[in-house]
Amino acid sequence: MKRVIAIDGPAGAGKSTVAKIVAEKLGYTYIDTGAMYRGVAWKTLRDDKEATDEAILRAVHDIDVRLACTKSGTRVTVDGTDVTAEIRTPEVTHIVSRVAALGPVREKMVELQRAMAVDGAVVMDGRDIGTNVLPNADVKIFLTASVEERARRRYDEMVAKGYAVDFDELKDEIASRDKQDSERTISPLRQAEDAVLLDSTALSIDDVVARILELSE
Ligand code: DC
Repeated sequence: MKRVIAIDGPAGAGKSTVAKIVAEKLGYTYIDTGAMYRGVAWKTLRDDKEATDEAILRAVHDIDVRLACTKSGTRVTVDGTDVTAEIRTPEVTHIVSRVAALGPVREKMVELQRAMAVDGAVVMDGRDIGTNVLPNADVKIFLTASVEERARRRYDEMVAKGYAVDFDELKDEIASRDKQDSERTISPLRQAEDAVLLDSTALSIDDVVARILELSE
């Protein structure tokens, strides 16, 4: 059995949905690294609506961000406060790529992520897991889908949560996050050379999960 599974890819490709199911089926721990960067963004906005670089660095300096796997999904706490719902707001989403581009933020998050994976039996998703956080992962997946399809999925998700969102705005936001995440200097979003590319545009969740489980045997 493979012990460490890394799933990277752009926003809305379905990483967290499939990573969660794969982890459940294998009895592994699911680690949502995007939620950690969102936790830093949430704390920054709580203390400074402008979210300047200085404010981001202040927020990350002494942050205690934790992920807890529960039956109802991952709970995220920042300095002891449960922010599971708050980290998914459009305000947090809007600044999170900028937060995740800063060196001190990445250093701290990557250190925590590696510590969470030391005992193996984890499925970790993000942007730089296969390339940087866990370069020796047993299975590396790069999961993608067309921008149109990813925007459609996010739109359905946000509407289900009761947010009034505009499809074209959402699509622009996703395209802009792709660009920021791919063009940043430190650990940009990119497929690791030894990662398997899965395009989920025309695949069901079950298809993607089955393929990852097959690769994990
Ligand atoms: O997967 P997500 O949308 O929750 O991620 C939020 C942001 O965090 C995303 O815009 C890029 C950043 N991120 C990152 O830079 N590295 C990771 N390993 C995970 C997320």
